[in-house]
Amino acid sequence: MENVTNLQSISYNQEKKFLQILDQLELPHKTKYLDIKDTKDAWTAVKTMQVRGAPAIAIVGCLGVAIELSTAKLSSKEELHTFFAEKMEYITTARPTAVNIHGAAKFLKEYSAKLLEDTSCSLTSMKEKIISQIETMLETDVDDNKRIGKFGAEDIVSRLNGGNAKILTHCNTGELATAGYGTALGVIRHLRELGKLEKVYCTETRPYNQGARLTAYELLQEKIDGTLICDSMVSLLMKMKKIDAVVVGADRVAGNGDTANKIGTYQIAISAKYHNVPFYVAAPFSSIDLSLSNGDSIPIEFRPDDELAYINGIRIAAPGISCWNPSFDVTPAALITGGIITEKGVFKQNTDEYFVFE
Ligand code: MRU
Repeated sequence: MENVTNLQSISYNQEKKFLQILDQLELPHKTKYLDIKDTKDAWTAVKTMQVRGAPAIAIVGCLGVAIELSTAKLSSKEELHTFFAEKMEYITTARPTAVNIHGAAKFLKEYSAKLLEDTSCSLTSMKEKIISQIETMLETDVDDNKRIGKFGAEDIVSRLNGGNAKILTHCNTGELATAGYGTALGVIRHLRELGKLEKVYCTETRPYNQGARLTAYELLQEKIDGTLICDSMVSLLMKMKKIDAVVVGADRVAGNGDTANKIGTYQIAISAKYHNVPFYVAAPFSSIDLSLSNGDSIPIEFRPDDELAYINGIRIAAPGISCWNPSFDVTPAALITGGIITEKGVFKQNTDEYFVFE
């Protein structure tokens, strides 16, 4: 194992084109790494949620294609372009809601088409350029997350009346969900770096328990003062514990700011509005889908009933009951009262309570 720490979800050796991911289905009990050798392996890891979180899905998906491309025997630039476009199309079918992989696929297919047209670019150089474009995603993501963390933490601090912040977060947005540092969890990390973090509450995040299994694990690893709550405890927590801000991630933000994120986010935002707690979304700009005018057309993934009815292979639901298992919900822009934190800065609602990103 090279360069692997406990919390490194994606380990990639550029020279050897060797990719491993931390199997998130085994956490927090086992630290097990899986080899990703091609597009199919990456697709399976994303589909089965061995790797999850919008930025990590995009990076692992694209790296899987890059690795396969690196050894593919292709005899012309046309053949390379068709091969690459088909693999990128395929990888986007693993999960529908997080836009990052769809955006990356669109950008990379256009990049490949440009190289195809460029007569000064050889077959070998076209291959190398596409692969290296994908490889930059790892570094860019960490840099963007650090900027998100800084912008978000400073905005939250500016609202505090002295004292340190008590933050509520939902799902998992940390090192495991990204190439490193995290988005919403990056904001929390930066608050701690500023000495302005009192405590983090993380929700269990039923039914997949990303909060209880993954965020709780990350908080412990980072020695951040964290407390786990059930999703159903959010309103009482806001009433009793004087939460200073809610910070969550995003899978897709529509052009007006409506935000798809892990199921349960919407009800937390409603409760935050009622209790006058600022509600922030933290996400890279690549999570903003400017092609959608609002959140109504964001595709929502429905996951199998068994993810709701079983925990660790043990059925907890009465046998025979039917289940409804949407994996994401859409929080209207009007409820995102704190702002949408990106690497470009913190976007705020306009007076009509929606966002303008350009
Ligand atoms: O189904 P998941 O675990 O992939 O959902 C993850 C989330 O909803 C995260 O909050 C989101 O992707 C942001 S990750 C930085």
